[in-house]
Amino acid sequence: MSPTPRTQFLPDEPWLDNNGVPINAHGGGVLFHEGVYYWFGEHKEDGDTCEVGVHVYSSTDLYNWTDRGIALEMVDDPASDITRGCILERPKVIRSASTGQFVMWFHLELKGHGRKAARSGLAVAEHPAGPYRFLRSLRPDAGTWPLNVTAEQRDGLEEAQKLLGTAFWGSPHPDRARMNFLARDFYGGQMAKDMTLFVDDDGTAYHVFSSEENAALHLSQLAPDHLTHTGRWTRIFEYLWHEAPALCKHAGRYWMLSSHCTGWNPNAARSAVADSIFGPWRELGNPCVGPTPRHRLGPDLTFGAQSTFILPVQGRPGAFIAMFDTWRPEDHCRSGYVWLPIVFGPDRFTITWHDAWDLSVFD
Ligand code: DGJ
Repeated sequence: MSPTPRTQFLPDEPWLDNNGVPINAHGGGVLFHEGVYYWFGEHKEDGDTCEVGVHVYSSTDLYNWTDRGIALEMVDDPASDITRGCILERPKVIRSASTGQFVMWFHLELKGHGRKAARSGLAVAEHPAGPYRFLRSLRPDAGTWPLNVTAEQRDGLEEAQKLLGTAFWGSPHPDRARMNFLARDFYGGQMAKDMTLFVDDDGTAYHVFSSEENAALHLSQLAPDHLTHTGRWTRIFEYLWHEAPALCKHAGRYWMLSSHCTGWNPNAARSAVADSIFGPWRELGNPCVGPTPRHRLGPDLTFGAQSTFILPVQGRPGAFIAMFDTWRPEDHCRSGYVWLPIVFGPDRFTITWHDAWDLSVFD
């Protein structure tokens, strides 16, 4: 049954689609095309593997979402990288102005290999809602050094190969505080886990992902067709362990929202700013502020959620929505969404809890 149309965002309540079914689009991102928003995200069943695919919903007002089905379907062929049972997380879609194609990138873990593969998956479509055709998966930036590589990292190339095959767990640990994961993965390509896509005003696209066992973020430029990395890339916040990156541009500067690395458990959100997209980036601290809401964890734990995307509201310059997920790893279908307005000051941005809010906050 169709629910009563919404006229507000209600971050504490289940969000139902046009059929009255909870929206199933986790770790998601939003594309705007020809007057319509498309929300892509992980279709979750009860576990953390991907059995179905990437779900897409459309909306013209951001409050009410129509189920448009599975944009990218997992396949039954066990030889495919996207066979059912792989892990597919944080899909994002952008449109290439040069080809007109819709391009989806996502974090992919190969079936049966835990979270060791750390690959990026790529799929394309001629229409925003799909169907998307899987092209390939890869480790980005193989055989290239970042713009800010140091002599020490380069010189450690052969020594770092000894780290290959060692198991790490993607969170801070004193023993691996300054291991040369960058050089370890020079030949085979860099690890790419939590990720986002960002398109600059000039149409140049960037792929931003947690790399080096999550110890650093990489920001890597994509070619005009958005299907390959150009080899122009940089490391951000080395050994500072970020996940869940999301980017936007406001007042001529680049702003980032992200998280610490604590698995599915909430932690304090992080924010950063840069005058140039290649940096230097400067950390600004936790952007979440204000009192603890009645049914929620407080701003010190991102209201129980983790960032996934910054959504620019069309036709309202300076209006951005921070999209977060509330993870329920014991039953992933119950994971939910928290969308909150971003308020920009001259030197930072803040995110305050609202039980209910609408786009007039940006007036
Ligand atoms: C935190 C990440 O942000 C999620 O996307 C997911 O990969 C979990 N870790 C897995 O523990």
